[in-house]
Amino acid sequence: MPATVIVGAQWGDEGKGKIVDLLALDSDLVCRYQGGPNAGHTIVVDGETFKIRQIPSGVLRGKICVIGAGCVVDPEVFLAEVDDLESRDVTTGVVHLSGEAHLIMPWHVAIDQASERRLGKLQIGTTKRGIGPCYADKAARLGIRVQDLLEPKILRQKIEVALAEKNVWLERVYGVPPLDLEEIAGQLEAFAQRIRPYVSDTSLLVDQALREGREVLLEGAQGTLLDLDHGTYPFVTSSNTVAANAATGIGIGPNRIDRVIGVAKAYVTRVGEGPFPTEIEGADQERVRELGGEFGTVTGRERRCGWLDLVALRYAVRLNGITSLALTKLDVLSHFAELPVCVAYQLRNGTETLEFPAHQSDFHHCRPVYETLPGWQEPLAGELPPAARAYVAFVEQALGVEIALVGTGAERESVVALR
Ligand code: IMP
Repeated sequence: MPATVIVGAQWGDEGKGKIVDLLALDSDLVCRYQGGPNAGHTIVVDGETFKIRQIPSGVLRGKICVIGAGCVVDPEVFLAEVDDLESRDVTTGVVHLSGEAHLIMPWHVAIDQASERRLGKLQIGTTKRGIGPCYADKAARLGIRVQDLLEPKILRQKIEVALAEKNVWLERVYGVPPLDLEEIAGQLEAFAQRIRPYVSDTSLLVDQALREGREVLLEGAQGTLLDLDHGTYPFVTSSNTVAANAATGIGIGPNRIDRVIGVAKAYVTRVGEGPFPTEIEGADQERVRELGGEFGTVTGRERRCGWLDLVALRYAVRLNGITSLALTKLDVLSHFAELPVCVAYQLRNGTETLEFPAHQSDFHHCRPVYETLPGWQEPLAGELPPAARAYVAFVEQALGVEIALVGTGAERESVVALR
């Protein structure tokens, strides 16, 4: 049985949580393959709002949930989420955490915060959750993994070795107070007792599920343009967000993936720094932000808002091998009489291109070429009005990919299936 990947096709916050929640209905397993508590899903169930950062949102449907090897896990955030879900009668017995996933330690958070401060104007605008420093230590082979929680002696040794070095950095490079070994070791030992029951061989678990013919959903965090290799570097996150990494991040072969569903907003948002060609100028930006509730789930930061960018979306289709798209939050555009859509970029030399520039300076300096489509200016419920259908058809035609789902509101039910 094949696996389906769901991937953000823009800069994150595309509303993946809601699409995953919907598709989870017909799935047996929901798996996260990268990222950590920098992601945030907001899901509204029967008027009750759930904000989930670390655990796959499939937990709300009682599905088996996997946090794969490619993820980074903040044990404190994970346990707080477990407590919150359990206190609201959502069972977390279905959650399986890869022993190969890396732990976000207090020094990762401290360094993320201090290094952003130090960069000043050049800062990336991270979520300050320790994501970059944790992945950096993973690559440097200094990381502490979930499985280390199962071996108290090894855990303590690793904390000691890492902290000796990190405290030098914290004090001498960043000029912030050092962290206390006993305090951290004690805290981690307490977390270990509680996390132990969740630790599994998740690669094997997913493989067995696929062999048994079960439906597996592989859920990406953040979005394509935040991919470490292919995104708008250096204003990216520190993992590969693209669909291909679902195989690596879970530990299955790429040939197990059959479908790739891209999720894109009907407009674009971006949090943090970095170039953003279709960022709206003037009062309409504020209007989109208010109408769309565009404030970060994790950080509460205002999201920058822009018109739909088909050049960037075409790039996302290419990078991920997107087989169909879900276009979310179309209702936010109901309030506008005219809807600019970016169909090409004009480069510094005056030429126009449909393809995303490979060189970062070309991207920094490009200007959006807009085509303006008529708005529909009526609420969306049930059947889409003709102008809204035309907007969707325009996007499909420009990208050569079908739009299977359209999001028309925050509630779980507010989705129109076109296919
Ligand atoms: P980090 O992932 O915290 O290191 O942040 C790196 C960049 O990714 C920053 O621009 C963040 O705003 C952005 N980012 C990280 N997670 C998300 C997300 O879930 N949604 C949108 N942007 C994100």
